[in-house]
Amino acid sequence: MINNPSRKYWNEASASPETHYLNRRHFIRQLAASSGAVMGAGLGAGSVAAALSDREKMYNIPEHALSDKLYPAKINPAYKVKRALTPKDEVFTYNNFYEFSLDKKAHRYVEPFQPFPWQIEVTGLCGKPKKWDIDEMLKAFPLEERTYRFRCVEAWAMTVPWTGFPLKSLIEKCEPDAKAKYVRFVSFHRPEQAVGQRENKDYSWPYYEGVNIEEAMNPLAFVATGLYGKQLPKQSGAPLRIVFPWKYGYKGPKSIVKIELTDQKPHTFWNDAMSKEYGYFSNVNPSKPHPRWSQSTERLLVTGQRVATRLYNGYEQELEGLHKTLYKNGEVF
Ligand code: MTE
Repeated sequence: MINNPSRKYWNEASASPETHYLNRRHFIRQLAASSGAVMGAGLGAGSVAAALSDREKMYNIPEHALSDKLYPAKINPAYKVKRALTPKDEVFTYNNFYEFSLDKKAHRYVEPFQPFPWQIEVTGLCGKPKKWDIDEMLKAFPLEERTYRFRCVEAWAMTVPWTGFPLKSLIEKCEPDAKAKYVRFVSFHRPEQAVGQRENKDYSWPYYEGVNIEEAMNPLAFVATGLYGKQLPKQSGAPLRIVFPWKYGYKGPKSIVKIELTDQKPHTFWNDAMSKEYGYFSNVNPSKPHPRWSQSTERLLVTGQRVATRLYNGYEQELEGLHKTLYKNGEVF
């Protein structure tokens, strides 16, 4: 999605997916750049850390006391995909998370990032605005597992089992006003923990996104807190992210701190950065090419297999009339 994909934040000569979390030099450097508050948070969670397997640490699955109780969650059989799951090694090591890396290697730089404790504000045009503590939220909404197709605007795709709950449930809880036409999301802003926010001044941090309220209320729209039956790894957007499976992946912000109901059409991070390339609706559409590449096919992660792109990523039926109302003018870009 960037102009200069060869640009990286760190000298990676000594890093590899297998060794990144043990890379002491890298760790010390990151720690030195982090604040005292970060170190304090890490120490507080020490006892839980002991329970994590080496494999989980390698995947950057955060320490969190509730994890064993919450994951794996019950599978919702209504959301299945007739396509093999993408191996999690790939899903956990091939990421777009510009707060940490421009070249898909966010897993190498997330060590200083502390997703627990965490708060999310649900605010704006609603009767019951609330600042949620993540633990309270995780207990308030029953978690379920759904397997969704995931399609990046860059034309790669994967099939992943998310754990979470419908975004609709969270929005209903805050009692939206009739005037609320849009839902705006804001990701975290912690330059001391996210090297990209410190070093890459080309973007206007924090990451922000938005959709029409009808889209946010569609039953497919999901608040994901887990992946592959565990808490979300840091590079996958811990402790919570938004997933719209019929839209290109960039419409789903990771590690969010705010959800705002508004009557103003929200600006979005990528649209503000490159408006001709990344639209507001961004619904998956094989017949609407990106200005620099075709969207008619997609590359499945790991196998490299090329398959036909499906309109709305194959979710047309589940959109319950959205395509006949909101999208009626063919507004898929
Ligand atoms: N959210 C934040 N905060 N920062 C990002 O850089 N990248 C987006 C989206 N959400 C991004 C983000 C893009 S471009 C994609 S394709 C997906 O996250 C990637 O999710 P994944 O890394 O879990 O595959």
